[in-house]
Amino acid sequence: MTENNNHELSEQVNKRRTFAIISHPDAGKTTITEQLLLFGGAIRQAGTVKAKKTGKFAKSDWMEIEKQRGISVTSSVMQFEYQDKRINILDTPGHEDFSEDTYRTLMAVDAAVMVVDSAKGIEEQTKKLFKVCRMRGIPIFTFMNKLDRDGREPLELIEELEEVLEIDAYPMNWPIGSGKTLLGLYDLYHNRIEAFRPEETNNGERFIPLNEEGEIEGDHKIKNESLYDQVLEEALLLKEAGNEFSTKAIASGKLSPVFFGSALTNFGVQTFLETFLEFAPEPSTHETQSSEIVKPDEPTFSGFVFKIQANMDPRHRDRIAFLRICSGEFQKGIDVTLARTGKKIRLSNSTQFMAESRETVTDAVAGDIIGLYDTGNFQIGDTLYAGKDEIEFQELPQFTPELFMKVEPKNVMKQKSFHKGINQLVQEGAIQLYKAYHTETYIIGAVGQLQFEVFEHRMRSEYNSDVIMTSIGSRIARWIDRNQLDENMGSSRNMLVRDRFDNPLFLFENKFAMRWFSDKYPDVELISLL
Ligand code: G4P
Repeated sequence: MTENNNHELSEQVNKRRTFAIISHPDAGKTTITEQLLLFGGAIRQAGTVKAKKTGKFAKSDWMEIEKQRGISVTSSVMQFEYQDKRINILDTPGHEDFSEDTYRTLMAVDAAVMVVDSAKGIEEQTKKLFKVCRMRGIPIFTFMNKLDRDGREPLELIEELEEVLEIDAYPMNWPIGSGKTLLGLYDLYHNRIEAFRPEETNNGERFIPLNEEGEIEGDHKIKNESLYDQVLEEALLLKEAGNEFSTKAIASGKLSPVFFGSALTNFGVQTFLETFLEFAPEPSTHETQSSEIVKPDEPTFSGFVFKIQANMDPRHRDRIAFLRICSGEFQKGIDVTLARTGKKIRLSNSTQFMAESRETVTDAVAGDIIGLYDTGNFQIGDTLYAGKDEIEFQELPQFTPELFMKVEPKNVMKQKSFHKGINQLVQEGAIQLYKAYHTETYIIGAVGQLQFEVFEHRMRSEYNSDVIMTSIGSRIARWIDRNQLDENMGSSRNMLVRDRFDNPLFLFENKFAMRWFSDKYPDVELISLL
C-alpha cells in the first residue's frame, strides 16, 4: 500500500464511530435509535424500526422495505453518515431476546449509550450491560429519557447513577421543569437554553443564548423565567459541588456525560447526537494473544467474529458471522487466514450494513462491522487476518449463565446426532454445556431464554435431533478451584457440575444457599465470571 493510500485509510478509519445503545426494555432504545437514523437519513419515516419490533408488517413487506431503503432495519447493525462521520449502531437485544450475543456485541463497540427511563432510574438489565462496558473501559454516555413525562428528580437520578453503577456523572444539560411543566433544557455545555416548545419563546427560537453567568441574553424571552432562575441556581450549585468535566475521564469510561431529553418528542436528541460525536472515540486498537497491539489504520486487514446469527428459516441453513474489522480495509474476495485452524478462506460472500444509498458506501474499514455468510467455518471469537503475519486477538470473555436446563435426546437411538449437535453449538458459543459429576446428565446454561429456543430449534433443523429440555430455573453459578473440590459438597440446593474444561462449579438455588455454603466452607473461594 502506498503512503497516499495509507493516509486515505487513516482518514476513513477516523471517521468511524461504532457504539451500542444499552438499556432496560421499554426505556426508549428503539425510539432513540429511530431518531438517530432519521437524522442520518437512513430511514425516512418514524415508526420504521418500531413497526418491525411490534411485527406490524409481514416478513415479505420488510424485505421490500429493506430493498427500497437499502438498509437492513431488521439487522443488528445500522450504519449511517452524520456530519462527516460514519456511524455504526450495534443493536443489543434485550428482554426475551437477551443472550450471550448481547454481551458479546459490547466487545465490538468503542462506546456505549445508556438510555434510562427518568421515571424508573437504573434498572436490572442496564446494570448487567453496564458491567460489561465498564470491564472494557469504554466511554459511556447517558441519556435520561421521557422528560415529557413526570419523572424523578434529576438530582436523584444522577445520584442513583453514581451510586448503583459506581461511575462519576457529569450533567451536560439540566431539565427546566418536567412532564406538563417541561419548559426546556439548560444546556450547560453549550451555554444555552433548548426550548421544549419553541413557539412559547418570544421569537419562536429553539435555542436561547445565555451569558457567562447563565442569564438570558438581550431581549430573548421564555415563558416561565422564574422556573428557569430556580434551575439556574440548582445547576450552578451542581457545577460547583459536582464532578469536574474531563475528556480523559470520559474516554476511559470513568465519567459519564449525562443528557436529559425525550426521544418520543425528539427533544434533546439532536443535541445529544452532536455532542456525543464530539467525544465518542475513533476505532480503538486491539490486543493480540501475544500482547501485540494492532492499530486500526494498519493496512493489513484483520478482525474478529463476535456473533453468529443462525437462520431460523429451515429452508436457509446459512448463517451470518458478524465480524468487527480491527485493522485495514475489507474488499470483497479478499483472502484471509482463519487463525484458529490456519485455514485459508476467500471472503467472497459478504454483506455490509449500510445507509440509504448503496453507491456512496466504499469498502468497509476498521471500526465497521461486516456480515460473512457462513456455512460452518466460523466460531465466536475467531480471528481472520490477511497478510503473512499471524494475528490472533485475545479471547472473548465468558459470561456467567443464569438460566439452566437439563437436556436429553427424545429418541435414545439418536445419541450420535444429539452429541454432534450439542458439541458444535457449544463450540460455536450458542450455549454453555455442563455435566453432573456422577450421572453424566447434560445441563445447558444461558443468560437469556432465547438461547434455549435457538438451541432447540437448531438441534432439530440442523442436526435432526429432537431434545427434551427440563428447566432447572434460575441459578447463581460460581466456579471453585479444582484442588478444593470435594464431590460431597454438592446437594440439590447447590448442584455440583463441571464445565466443558472440567472445571467444577456450583449452581446455587439462591443467595441464601450460596451464603450457607460459604459459611460451611469458608476456605473455598467462589469465583464468578462476568
Ligand atoms: P425499548 O426499545 O427500550 O424497549 O423502548 P421503546 O423505544 O420501544 O419505548 C418503549 C415505550 O416508551 C414506547 O411506548 C415508546 O413510545 C415510549 N417512549 C419512548 N421514549 C419516550 C419518551 O421520550 N417519552 C414518552 N412519553 N414515551 C417514550 P409504548 O406505548 O410501549 O409503544 P407505542 O405504542 O407508543 O409505540
